[in-house]
Amino acid sequence: MKRDIERVLISEEEIQKKVQEMGRQISEDYRDKNLLMVSVLKGSVIIMADLMRAITIPARIDFMSVSSYGNGTVHKSLKILKDLDIPLEGYDLLLVEDILDSGKTLYSLREMLRQRNPRSIRIATLLDKPERREEDIRPDYYCFQVPDEFVVGYGLDYAEKYRNLPFIGVLKPEVYSGK
Ligand code: IMP
Ligand code: MG
Repeated sequence: MKRDIERVLISEEEIQKKVQEMGRQISEDYRDKNLLMVSVLKGSVIIMADLMRAITIPARIDFMSVSSYGNGTVHKSLKILKDLDIPLEGYDLLLVEDILDSGKTLYSLREMLRQRNPRSIRIATLLDKPERREEDIRPDYYCFQVPDEFVVGYGLDYAEKYRNLPFIGVLKPEVYSGK
């Protein structure tokens, strides 16, 4: 698996340091709130597991899985593959994602969840790729900004592979071209 990687963009140590910092900040910001962490499957499972252990206040967790369909200029519609288990009234939601890319997924998801009347919704993402943004959406918390390059590892996949790499890396071009 490692031999498919051209270079390491962010090391395991750098990730751990930033995730710990993010956890401290969230613990402070949500001290008097009712935190519900929502992991958007599957890419966010790794950051979710590390981030929740870096949070020192009580936190509930839940999981959601969506797939987008439709294209063009209108917002993508979302199909719910796995919904949340509980109603959202009274909760301060923190949507946990692996990467904010075009922003279409989280934009639509946030709109959908807003209609369930949570007290607040914020976004925490491991990676932010601002150059690719197509929707008016920004993460409230992020660990790293990355350039417009396809990355894998620490939850992020290419064709469902490489999620279990402990670092963030860039794939060799021949992996995509299938040579
Ligand atoms: P968005 O709706 O364009 O923001 O797409 C977000 C989703 O696309 C992420 O949750 C990832 O699953 C996937 N994605 C976007 N960029 C990358 C990347 O560089 N590597 C792996 N997956 C990516
Ligand atoms: Mg994803």
